[in-house]
Amino acid sequence: MSPSPAPAETGSIAIAATLRAAEIAALHARSDAPAWSVAAWSAQLAQPAVACLVHETASRIDGFIALAVAAGEAEVLMIAVDPPRRRRGIAGRLLSAALRAVRAKGARTCFLEVADDNAPARALYAAHGFREIGRRKGYYARSGDSVDALMLAASLNDMMPPRNMEPDL
Ligand SMILES: CC(C)(COP(=O)(O)OP(=O)(O)OC[C@H]1O[C@@H](n2cnc3c(N)ncnc32)[C@H](O)[C@@H]1OP(=O)(O)O)[C@@H](O)C(=O)NCCC(=O)NCCS
Repeated sequence: MSPSPAPAETGSIAIAATLRAAEIAALHARSDAPAWSVAAWSAQLAQPAVACLVHETASRIDGFIALAVAAGEAEVLMIAVDPPRRRRGIAGRLLSAALRAVRAKGARTCFLEVADDNAPARALYAAHGFREIGRRKGYYARSGDSVDALMLAASLNDMMPPRNMEPDL
């Protein structure tokens, strides 16, 4: 018998302020390498052009997304979900909410970079309308090797406005 799928996530999504920098940095360190420091997260969250949404379950952050928004364009800076909490739809909910929120702030296109070998992230982005627009050969260093960076873009023109209960950046 195949294992049951993880239950769909029902936590809440909120805007992150600088006082959550330590929690976000800790989750980032558990999720990705190299991660940004608490000071780097504090500096990012203090920037007016940077928006960060967190997913919380029982007041504990188990996922986040950070974006920069300026001049009609948005860029996903980072998205991560706590390893034990993955494959429950948390990143999908965060990305959908963030794209609707930056669309409401005037962004018409969203860009991002992802490593060619990051299959989970590539599948997530493809499911949200991101398409490849460029490639940087050997951009990411791996132990004794390198991996291309894919540059992806999604049009936000048909994006619906934020739903009730979703943050308005
Ligand atoms: C990428 C990441 C954010 C996905 O988080 P998640 O909460 O597990 O993703 P979701 O459950 O919302 O999955 C949404 C979709 O993404 C894709 N996906 C996610 N994880 C996947 C995996 N391990 N393998 C294949 N597809 C995957 C699927 O299309 C999935 O939809 P489905 O479950 O209906 O098939 C998470 O794996 C992570 O934190 N990775 C480390 C940090 C990172 O690489 N960030 C991206 C930097 S560019």
